[in-house]
Amino acid sequence: MCGIIGYSGRQNPIPILIDGLKKLEYRGYDSAGVAIFSGGDIKRLRVKGKISLLEEKIKQLQLDGSCGLGHTRWATHGVPSEENAHPHRSCGNQIVLVHNGIIENYHLLKERLLAEGHQFESETDSEVIAHLVEKYYAGCLEEAVSRAVQELEGAFAIAVISRDEPGKIVVAKLGPPAVVGFGDGENIVASDVNPLLSYTNKVAFLEDREIAILTPNEIRFTDFTGKPIEKRIEILTWSPLMIEKRGFKHFMLKEIFEQPQVIRETMEGRIKLDKAQVLLDETGLSLSSLKRIKRLVMVACGTSFHAGLLGKYYVETLARIPVEVVYASEYRYHEVIPDGETLAVFISQSGETADTLASLRQVKKLGLSSLAICNVAQSSIARESDGVFYTHAGPEIGVAATKTFSAQLTALFLLAVGLAQLQNNQEERLNLIQAFRKIPWQVEALLGQKEMIDALSARFLHTEHFLYLGRWVNYPIALEGALKLKEISYIHAEAYPGGEMKHGPIALIDEKMPTMAICPQDKVYEKMLSNIMEVKARQGVVIALATQGDESIKKKVDQVIYLPSTHPLLFPFLSLVPLQLFAYCLAARRGADVDQPRNLAKSVTVE
Ligand code: G6P
Repeated sequence: MCGIIGYSGRQNPIPILIDGLKKLEYRGYDSAGVAIFSGGDIKRLRVKGKISLLEEKIKQLQLDGSCGLGHTRWATHGVPSEENAHPHRSCGNQIVLVHNGIIENYHLLKERLLAEGHQFESETDSEVIAHLVEKYYAGCLEEAVSRAVQELEGAFAIAVISRDEPGKIVVAKLGPPAVVGFGDGENIVASDVNPLLSYTNKVAFLEDREIAILTPNEIRFTDFTGKPIEKRIEILTWSPLMIEKRGFKHFMLKEIFEQPQVIRETMEGRIKLDKAQVLLDETGLSLSSLKRIKRLVMVACGTSFHAGLLGKYYVETLARIPVEVVYASEYRYHEVIPDGETLAVFISQSGETADTLASLRQVKKLGLSSLAICNVAQSSIARESDGVFYTHAGPEIGVAATKTFSAQLTALFLLAVGLAQLQNNQEERLNLIQAFRKIPWQVEALLGQKEMIDALSARFLHTEHFLYLGRWVNYPIALEGALKLKEISYIHAEAYPGGEMKHGPIALIDEKMPTMAICPQDKVYEKMLSNIMEVKARQGVVIALATQGDESIKKKVDQVIYLPSTHPLLFPFLSLVPLQLFAYCLAARRGADVDQPRNLAKSVTVE
């Protein structure tokens, strides 16, 4: 969490830092700040609240200068306040820095530094780093940073400046991401590539225990001990246009509407239609090793976890390989039993989620083979896994994941089909692939229902609780639909498999708790209808997601949203869309901050 940025070059850094912080704001948005070299000193400005407030304050002060740092915060140590906002500084403003991560031994360091006479201004763990760097500073910033980071325990990506070395930014990484961009007479560093896209497509991702030293004309790299290292320059394929709203009111809405394209791009080049085959070679895992797999474990958090739940149905049904799906925050503390036949699949949009990354590192130590399903090229999880199946969703800015979820489902479906063909399981493959190729068009058609769903959402403006029901492959979608509603509209929503309802949640049903029931014509259709009748018998209001042409369901429920007909295994790709739109429309009508919901962050890089 938290976003950091630094710029050194010929331009006034303020607009660059502010623009960059806006692109990083999804990482945290409870306070923000900048620090720049100006008039022989470092000037610092911080606010509690969003980047827009910081921008206003800067305009009033007409801050100007060269080289600077910026930060957007998601509080861990210390409440959101101006005092706790970054950049933090050492005594006398000698050293100023921004930090993403957690310093676990900060208490010890702080006690020591206090005893040595340092004076602290905030309650944060981050401030200790500034004092520690100051302690070791003897005219060369990278040397001081290199000594200081060796004493830090925990996770950090820091960007540091010193009043005595204008134009120089020293970056160090252990855990959270940091990427530097090579410009022309200007260089830039940030937590991810989004702020860099307008300036350069040439970047280098820092590895753990690496330091980058930026000046306007060069970027040098060393390890934590100061030994110079060479880094490979990567060329980015994302464009600045991809991170614009392009006429949509919110990023989330734009991203929901991008789903047909995202599904197409994630399947692009991976299906060999004449042979009804999925190509898995690109993952980097050998087909012979994939063939040996006897068990899969899928590890993820949040929305990516829900993708894993559906992936289990796909792999077990199509490839007949048993799958376990585990929250990464739990899995990292599991007693994992190593064997040569398990593939651990790490599903992560960002590729930086701390728990997922820690789980990956744990299984690697045990010698299990690993595959990442990931949206961000060169992210930590993508780099550290044995193989990667990239989802081609492009940058996702809305904090609530939407298009990356569809891309993950696409990847998991293709993985399942690919594993099925390796196991010689031909069943239904051709039918399925043909049905799957129609999905992007069917999603497009569903997006045309936005106005109707918006009007429907108006009826629930003051509703406080929702129940989401689904069975079989649509149960993970019920979970995801409820999560979307919770995340962005702050309405309490519970999701249950329909059959489980009578073991508890049915007690909650009354006319004030509506139910969203996913009820396509699949093998559990009749069972879901019974569950719907149980809700109706208790005065519950029911909105059903049903298959086009299912006229009879109209008489049983209060409202129907129709889904085009598809292969039963593929309904989740369709049932998902109205649920995303419903959550979006309801949240927007309630005036919620859809793209940046309270207390959440897009990329959770702390445990
Ligand atoms: C955060 C985000 C969610 C996301 C989850 C996992 O909680 O707000 O949208 O699903 O992290 O993120 P990952 O990048 O690992 O998929």
